[in-house]
Amino acid sequence: MQRTLAIVKPDGVASGLIGEVVKRIEQEGLRIVAMRMEHLTRSKAEGFYYVHRSRPFFNSLVEFMTSGPCVLMVLDGPEAIPRWRALMGATDPQKAAPGTIRRDMATGIERNVVHGSDAPDTASYEVNYFFTGTQISS
Ligand code: CDP
Ligand code: MG
Repeated sequence: MQRTLAIVKPDGVASGLIGEVVKRIEQEGLRIVAMRMEHLTRSKAEGFYYVHRSRPFFNSLVEFMTSGPCVLMVLDGPEAIPRWRALMGATDPQKAAPGTIRRDMATGIERNVVHGSDAPDTASYEVNYFFTGTQISS
């Protein structure tokens, strides 16, 4: 059993894609055990993407992630981390496989609709970054 963090980014929320993303998660059989909408502050977004702080796209990414509300979710299930990454598709929508969220809905490498944790250690860090234990249903 794995647990991972999923985010519908501000572009996805603004484009009315919350329902489509949630539908794909549920159809995949992943269990949504926590969910809320949050408009990230600059410091919250900077902390979340701390590993990317030295990358050339960091400032633009933080600007984008604070441009409107996100939907934050915690997903549970066997192999939840790779299964959610597979539903998302590659970071660059032009390289993402057909039928993935990013290929179907993203408008660019930055504005790529969704986030997903990439490994067990980052998943644990990211879930705890946004949710406390009592906010997650068992
Ligand atoms: O989100 P993912 O794990 O697929 O990619 P990442 O390499 O961890 O990058 C985090 C986010 O930064 C991406 O989802 C994009 O929104 C953004 N990014 C970007 O704007 N330009 C890049 N060349 C790479 C990533
Ligand atoms: Mg990543």
